[in-house]
Amino acid sequence: MKYKDNKGGISNGEISEGGIKMSFSVSSLIPISENFFWIGSNDRTTDLFEAIWPLPHGISYNSYFLADQKVALIDTVKDDTIDQYIEKIKHLSRKFGQVDYLIINHMEPDHSGAITILRSIWPQIRIVGNARTAGFLKEFYGITENIQIVQDTEEISLGKFRLKFFLTPMVHWPETMMTYEAVGKVLFSGDVFGGFGAMEAGLFDDEVDLAYYEGEILRYFSNVIGKYSSSVQRAIEKIKDLDIRLIASTHGPVWRSKPREIISRYNHWSRQEAENGVVVVYGSMYGNTKKMMDAAVRGINSQKIRNIRIHDISRAHLSYLIQDAWKYKVTLFASPTYDAHLFPPMAQFINMLERKGLKNRIMGIVGTYGWSGGALKPLHEFAEENNWELVEPVVEAKCSPTEEDLQRCYQLGQNLARHL
Ligand code: FEO
Repeated sequence: MKYKDNKGGISNGEISEGGIKMSFSVSSLIPISENFFWIGSNDRTTDLFEAIWPLPHGISYNSYFLADQKVALIDTVKDDTIDQYIEKIKHLSRKFGQVDYLIINHMEPDHSGAITILRSIWPQIRIVGNARTAGFLKEFYGITENIQIVQDTEEISLGKFRLKFFLTPMVHWPETMMTYEAVGKVLFSGDVFGGFGAMEAGLFDDEVDLAYYEGEILRYFSNVIGKYSSSVQRAIEKIKDLDIRLIASTHGPVWRSKPREIISRYNHWSRQEAENGVVVVYGSMYGNTKKMMDAAVRGINSQKIRNIRIHDISRAHLSYLIQDAWKYKVTLFASPTYDAHLFPPMAQFINMLERKGLKNRIMGIVGTYGWSGGALKPLHEFAEENNWELVEPVVEAKCSPTEEDLQRCYQLGQNLARHL
């Protein structure tokens, strides 16, 4: 099966793509190969994914239509993008017949949101998932009938297409699984290998600007999937011997040119390996902690380190801080004391890093206090509990840093840089 042959054409006054006559009311229906279509949606109106993570470039919910003697859908879309989704299924069903199976790789509502309406229109659809999927179907939607439970490595034949299921729990929920189509060698991987960012003009890795998506894929990984790194490692191990020609995840580009590249990136991030570079996260109410941060950054820069990303924690969203902390080997924390404790946004940042389970990084600490102090203790505890190597000197200034304090910050910057 070829994946480079979905170019459109005009014959007898009709526009076709992948052998199917196009209807412009369903123009976001994209042929992938013969009888295999992307029918997902591009959401450019939701501001926050999971009501937490910003979506400045939107997000795609990828769903797929496989037509054979039996017709199958793979996953669905979020409920507020359903209208066009249903139109696309109706359009394809007129040519290929009604849907027999709905394969649910993942029950999070950004992918299961259309199940209820699908069943109300086409009650014959048989939902395929594992035992954990069945629990969520009942608990989220009250669905208890017409469900086919599959076991790990079980197969379903659609005719020529053969679907094999691989249970990959906790990437990202307990029921998550992957579906491998053995003839076209397609891996429907669920959230794994996905990313933020609505698809713009293209869908495939070779027809979009991957540099544009790269940061959004890492941000998605670090914000949403990274906590489950060890499960991602188990999943990658489980699929390592599959011959994969195309990766069709639930978010972001479909990888047909370089499917191994996205596996390799996810492997790198889920092993929690880092690139050389420093992320600097500072909070400063009156500029004194910022002075110390600036001196430390000059020290880092003096060692010819150029990958330095500076975030004002009062203004940058946590999402981006986590992304950079995941990416780079070294983090510099610069925090004043507030209410005899860590500056509140910094406390939230280290709390989220702990929850995401990021280990084995290198860190430095600078900070200020007015009378009692208290900011540094939680940062020391964070280092110890999460196996982050703390580089000396830790510098804490009373009220405003002295020249000697700033010299020590500069020295800390140089010491951090020497770890790269
Ligand atoms: Fe895209 Fe875990 O949902």
